[in-house]
Amino acid sequence: MNGFRIGIVGCGGIANRHIAGYRSVAGDLGEVVAGCDPNEEILQGYCDKYAIPHRFTRAEDMIASGQVDVISLLTPPAVRHEVIFPAIEQGIHLLVEKPFGETLADAVSFVEAAEKAGVVLAVNHQMDFTRDMEAIRQAIASGRIGQVRHIAHDHLQNRTRVQGWRSREQRLEISIFSIHLIDRIRILAGSPPTSVAAVMRSWNPDVEGETYTSLNVQFENGTVGTMVSNWHSPTLPECRLRIDGTQGSLLSAKEGFLADKATLRIQPADGALEELDCSQQDTFPTAMGQSMRHLLEAARQGIEPLHSGRGNLQTMQIVDAAYLSAQRGGALVEVGKISSS
Ligand SMILES: NC(=O)c1ccc[n+]([C@@H]2O[C@H](COP(=O)([O-])OP(=O)(O)OC[C@H]3O[C@@H](n4cnc5c(N)ncnc54)[C@H](O)[C@@H]3O)[C@@H](O)[C@H]2O)c1
Repeated sequence: MNGFRIGIVGCGGIANRHIAGYRSVAGDLGEVVAGCDPNEEILQGYCDKYAIPHRFTRAEDMIASGQVDVISLLTPPAVRHEVIFPAIEQGIHLLVEKPFGETLADAVSFVEAAEKAGVVLAVNHQMDFTRDMEAIRQAIASGRIGQVRHIAHDHLQNRTRVQGWRSREQRLEISIFSIHLIDRIRILAGSPPTSVAAVMRSWNPDVEGETYTSLNVQFENGTVGTMVSNWHSPTLPECRLRIDGTQGSLLSAKEGFLADKATLRIQPADGALEELDCSQQDTFPTAMGQSMRHLLEAARQGIEPLHSGRGNLQTMQIVDAAYLSAQRGGALVEVGKISSS
């Protein structure tokens, strides 16, 4: 075969979306040749379903096998170090599911090791690659709304059924879900975060972590980001991303983060309203494929991908600062004062 040989570590739920996207969007650059899962039944079921030849129950065996150039790490958040460090040592590039690490300090150690070894390390924030997000990035880069001042990203859903490892996560709502929104806000702000204030609630008695977050983040260039993510919105689901710049505004409205139907409205202060249909079939797997495609292109060209581990450290800074702020009842936390070691 030509191209990169990809190994999937963690063949559970999300691995199905990944492989579908890789095959439809990144098949010319790489192919999944190996799967790894300690659960033999899950491993064989997944590899049979997708005709994957090489199968491992231990990630260290996949890494040592010489059969893969890239690992897609799709395990629960507690499984990171034991795969990332040995893979980096073997010169294997990595796409790591969010959250990148359980804490900022974890993430810093991964990035430092990857940079030293010269491997590409990216974090799977696939929602940075949806059609609406790409149109928003273009609109900002072209100067159509001027300098970005305010980014409001809200997600309101009814997600009260939480099962398995997620129900035991101490860091739940942000780490497992709205970290995607935070990552988008930080990319669109285009500047390092300076301070965060957050309020959280744990409204689901069946789980250990938070299920509601409202957050405010300030960036060095003066941009302010706000986010509300509520898992307890009984009706009227909504995912909204609004940006106000010095010369105009834009608004992306969807029923949910992963909805295929999407409309983006852009209105410069001195121009006509433009309404773009950003709908996309199979948004979820397609975005997964784009995420892998960007990693493979970056590995081929020796460049930093949009969703690099290095960039994600700012996302993890916001996340750690948010949890600390929430512990302190919503007090402002300066990002420079949180520990990264
Ligand atoms: N980007 C997204 O939109 C998105 C969506 C859902 C989940 N996720 C992330 O994907 C990851 C997995 O979530 P999921 O829903 O697929 O969970 P899951 O429980 O369905 O699957 C996880 C799999 O990992 C396996 N596993 C556990 N330890 C392992 C190890 N040491 N080596 C190899 N495999 C191991 C488990 O046996 C299981 O099959 C999490 O980090 C989650 O946050 C991301």
